[in-house]
Amino acid sequence: MGAAPFFPPAPGPRGERHRRREIWTRRRSDRGYAARGEVMNAMGDADAVVLVEELRKRYPRGVIALDGISFAVAPGETFALLGPNGAGKSTAVRILATLTRADAGRARVAGHDVAREAGRVRAAIGYVAQATGTDKEATGRENLVLQGRLYHMPGPRIRERASQLIQWLDLGGAADRLTRGYSGGMRRRLDVAMGLVHEPRVLFLDEPTTGLDPESRSALWRDLQRLKARTGLTILLTTHYLEEADEAADRVAIVDHGRIVAMGTPAELKAQIRGDAVVLDLVPAQAPGARDLVAALPGVRDVTLEGRTLRCRVAEGARMLPQLITALDRAGLSVLSAAVRRPSLDDVYLHHTGHAFLSGAPEAVGP
Ligand SMILES: Nc1ncnc2c1ncn2[C@@H]1O[C@H](COP(=O)(O)OP(=O)(O)OP(=O)(O)O)[C@@H](O)[C@H]1O
Ligand SMILES: [Mg+2]
Repeated sequence: MGAAPFFPPAPGPRGERHRRREIWTRRRSDRGYAARGEVMNAMGDADAVVLVEELRKRYPRGVIALDGISFAVAPGETFALLGPNGAGKSTAVRILATLTRADAGRARVAGHDVAREAGRVRAAIGYVAQATGTDKEATGRENLVLQGRLYHMPGPRIRERASQLIQWLDLGGAADRLTRGYSGGMRRRLDVAMGLVHEPRVLFLDEPTTGLDPESRSALWRDLQRLKARTGLTILLTTHYLEEADEAADRVAIVDHGRIVAMGTPAELKAQIRGDAVVLDLVPAQAPGARDLVAALPGVRDVTLEGRTLRCRVAEGARMLPQLITALDRAGLSVLSAAVRRPSLDDVYLHHTGHAFLSGAPEAVGP
């Protein structure tokens, strides 16, 4: 079953009094954030569209989903929360989308406190849940129109916006077909379109490409990049695909057991890992001898042997590789093939958590 559509609550009778309290609260919390300063300074910009400070969340039975996470997302940025199953990514996004509350800490989205100004936050954001939220008995266009009505948008504007999104997200051929017959990729594009009907400033995408083949995944990101260029949208996404975070995100926070263990641009994160990986393919019978020889060479670290594949880390792969091959050759040990690899996000994850990145079985995005 799909998730319920996401829309802002109707304005309540508390109206004006509530609004005044929000303004007061906002001023007070501005001071709070400025005093702590850490997150702001890290960004070098007080205009963060998403500002998260020390969020904590524990579920019944003692599961700690978030153990104090802080980050800031700049306007127009694509920011990825990257982590394996159960890391706490969806919990973080659900708190920011006002769908659940944190036990401690605070967060502001588009200038509004998520706990105290939920209605304003909801008006400013689009939220695409991990599970698809489309009505399978309606067409793509009908789904978009319904979403626009839930936001109390005027009819002509909804129809115009629906046509625009159908075009932007390449749903043209399928827009007037029941979504029951959509492929996973088409349904996910429609989910994204639904999140954008009311022209939000910020889009939360929870695992937007899980279950999609690599081609549909890059097609969706191509559409989103085009959309961002047009509208200056800020995107916060979650993913457990290392390559997706690397390619699609301006900055990445690696989440492990409810904590952020590393944060930065993919290039910055990889630059923290000293040295290049060298991978050598050896003659099986000679592999253990080659490992011992390589491990004894100065400047070589982290030597591992798996079958006939030897991996090690050196400061400058391109300079060191010929020396390695010469040393092995002199000892009568052949190298069948050799490669130098710059550090990947995989290496970053291993470095910060002490264990390899295992995303587990991806969940399906729909039936
Ligand atoms: N409603 C809930 N009740 C109890 N525990 C929950 C609930 N929602 C999440 N959890 C637990 O909180 C932890 C974090 O879950 P969350 O869904 O935020 O992780 P995630 O990083 O989004 O994982 P995935 O990649 O599988 O979507 C997990 O241990 C999960 O089992
Ligand atoms: Mg999740």
